[in-house]
Amino acid sequence: MMHRAPSQSKGPHPPGPKVANMPTSDAWVKYRDWGSKYGDLIYLPRWNTLITNNAEVAIDLLEKRARIYSDRAMTPIMKLCGGENLLSVECYSDKWRKDRRVFQQTFRQAAISHFYPAQYSKIHEFLRKLLLMPEDSMKHIDGLSRGVIPKALYGLDIEPEDAFAKKVAGIIDTFGKALLNGSFPTYEWFPFLIYLPSWFPGCGFKRIASECGKVVKEVDTIPFETAMNNLQNGIGTSPIVELALQKPQDIKEIKAMGAMSFIGAIDTTMSSVSSFMLAMCLHPDIQTKAQEELDNVVGKDRLPTFEDRRHLPYVEAIYREVMRLYPPVPLGFPHISMEDDFYRGYYIPKGCAVVANIWAMNRNPNVHTDPDKFLPERHLESPTGPFESIDNIYAYGFGRRVCAGRYMADNTVWLTIASVLAAFTLSKAKDRNGNEIDIPGEFTNHFFRHPKPYRSNITPRSQLTRYLVLATADQ
Ligand code: HEM
Repeated sequence: MMHRAPSQSKGPHPPGPKVANMPTSDAWVKYRDWGSKYGDLIYLPRWNTLITNNAEVAIDLLEKRARIYSDRAMTPIMKLCGGENLLSVECYSDKWRKDRRVFQQTFRQAAISHFYPAQYSKIHEFLRKLLLMPEDSMKHIDGLSRGVIPKALYGLDIEPEDAFAKKVAGIIDTFGKALLNGSFPTYEWFPFLIYLPSWFPGCGFKRIASECGKVVKEVDTIPFETAMNNLQNGIGTSPIVELALQKPQDIKEIKAMGAMSFIGAIDTTMSSVSSFMLAMCLHPDIQTKAQEELDNVVGKDRLPTFEDRRHLPYVEAIYREVMRLYPPVPLGFPHISMEDDFYRGYYIPKGCAVVANIWAMNRNPNVHTDPDKFLPERHLESPTGPFESIDNIYAYGFGRRVCAGRYMADNTVWLTIASVLAAFTLSKAKDRNGNEIDIPGEFTNHFFRHPKPYRSNITPRSQLTRYLVLATADQ
């Protein structure tokens, strides 16, 4: 939604292009190009938006001045999408604070090992599927990404093709559009259209947003009620049910936490895992190096566990490199300023949407040599080493709005990487004549970014690893 900037009487705004329409495809590339022309701060007056490609600026504003830069824009379209009850897009308020507190109690670092069993179960199931139906690897990645939270939180084993989970996955794109300026141009130019019926010409966006809002309500109730019914019918309990029984006064926030994590995990996990698998197909030498490390540290007679993590610096470096080069949310979520501010001699008005171009920060040539190359070694050579706090991974965002599910995400993605490397060799698929089929390495270009489908070969590393993978079914 367009937010016109207040007058410049308080000082100059940072420089920037006078654009009427915002780029909506590969916007992060366009924003980086603007940075080369305008510098670290790019201000778009028509949109009251400040873009930065510089991590230092993002940290200065979004972390050090988090008191100012922690709001979200609750536009009418975001309301229709059901955003008022979704932690990631809610305004900064007492309601957000309570929602975030309840969320963090469950997903904080110290409590996160409660979810290990569910993560092992779903990741091992993923390995078995890769073994038995390697040609459907994309489908299995989707299944994993949609399945971990339902298992971990609600005790539900959902199938990859589960219609409800598919429906939930389907609304994520709408949220991306509602967050990215320029995605609904008719509405942005003529905001009053929001008050007209969805059949009115140019109002199709209303139908899409209302559909999204309906699904958000369903994801708030359906999995929770299923988990409750499972308890009542003696099928078993689950973390969310236990929490609801312990804290009935927080039931609304607990359900919202479930909905948020169900939605928040899907596209992001899928993006990270498929980017990792793509990188391994493209870089066989890196894959071999990681497998040698795994063989030396873990051995060949079992699959990796979370306890192995600290002893696997090269695997860690691969994970960090995936998050650097392929951040699933390349522009993060815009943080809205709650009061007028001054920074580096410029005036940043209240209500300004600050966009941290994570994709560009992670490819800053002043920070990273060969920034566009997949080079895990850079994390081994860095002064902090590969095990620095995950709070420093920009892909999870900044400040008070930093990803509240990052410890969960980090464990899921890491264990998937380590397990796939231990069990399989990934490579380019071959044609009938035995020639490798090239992988163009293309990515989607909207708000969430992930590899486009590609063909690959996935083969177990040995008879023993085949056996180890199959044996996980009995654990
Ligand atoms: C690799 C996986 C993931 C990535 C890269 C990722 C990235 C992000 C980013 C960039 C943000 C916005 C941060 C900001 O505004 O500065 C965010 C917010 C959020 N994420 Fe994630 N996320 C991932 C997985 C998850 C998972 C698995 C969950 C749930 C368990 C989750 C829950 C949330 C929540 C609740 C917020 C909103 C925080 C707030 O606004 O207060 N995320 N995430």
